[in-house]
Amino acid sequence: MSLVKSENLTKTYRMGDETVRALDGVSLRIDPGEFVAILGPSGSGKSTLMHILGFMDSPSAGRLRFEGGEVSQIGRARRSWYRANRIGFVFQAFNLLPRLSVTDNVLLPVVYGRSGIRDRKSLARVALERVGMTHRARHLPNQLSGGERQRAAIARALVNSPALVLADEPTGNLDSQNVDRIMALFGELAAEGHTIVVVTHDEHVAGFARRRIRMHDGRITEDSSMDV
Ligand SMILES: Nc1ncnc2c1ncn2[C@@H]1O[C@H](COP(=O)(O)OP(=O)(O)OP(=O)(O)O)[C@@H](O)[C@H]1O
Ligand SMILES: [Mg+2]
Repeated sequence: MSLVKSENLTKTYRMGDETVRALDGVSLRIDPGEFVAILGPSGSGKSTLMHILGFMDSPSAGRLRFEGGEVSQIGRARRSWYRANRIGFVFQAFNLLPRLSVTDNVLLPVVYGRSGIRDRKSLARVALERVGMTHRARHLPNQLSGGERQRAAIARALVNSPALVLADEPTGNLDSQNVDRIMALFGELAAEGHTIVVVTHDEHVAGFARRRIRMHDGRITEDSSMDV
């Protein structure tokens, strides 16, 4: 079964009497365990697509299936359930809360009350181990390097074992060594069965992914997979 399947996804925004067509008929299938890079110029619809795939926004038209269920027009409550339980997000600017330790940042997506303190600690530890960050668990974000901050953000995205990890320009603020490290980490996560979708402007970054999708003016213009 596919993880994501879209048919003719369209997203339009009304701006006064003008209509902006951010997505213009995107049909796409992503299977479990795929590692996908989405490339394309500024304004081509990459973030819009990520927001829709991540249940942060709904399409204006078209169909979207997630894990076999029809989700194109679901309401706010179900969207937030999917966001909390099936999706992990990594943003360019990390979005770590400055007053919380790394551990507490990682635990932000974990709903209170669902698990006891001991379970929460071990969830955080497992996620931090996965990104090589257990030794920084008690640091605050401003006590971390840029690469460490991004790894903490990835640990947070992984903490609920999401089916789909979406990363929008996750390496934008990093030096080349950290870029390679983060992308290699995504590759390992994909090999373990996580589905990873990374938006980037950078061909080198996209080179880590097995499948590359190019967008232009809200459409997919190229979709190619490499054999590894
Ligand atoms: N909330 C909005 N209201 C109106 N127009 C929007 C809105 N969000 C996005 N757009 C427009 O939709 C188009 C696609 O935007 P999107 O953010 O998806 O591009 P992008 O490919 O992520 O670009 P970048 O590489 O610069 O991040 C752009 O022309 C943008 O101006
Ligand atoms: Mg964008």
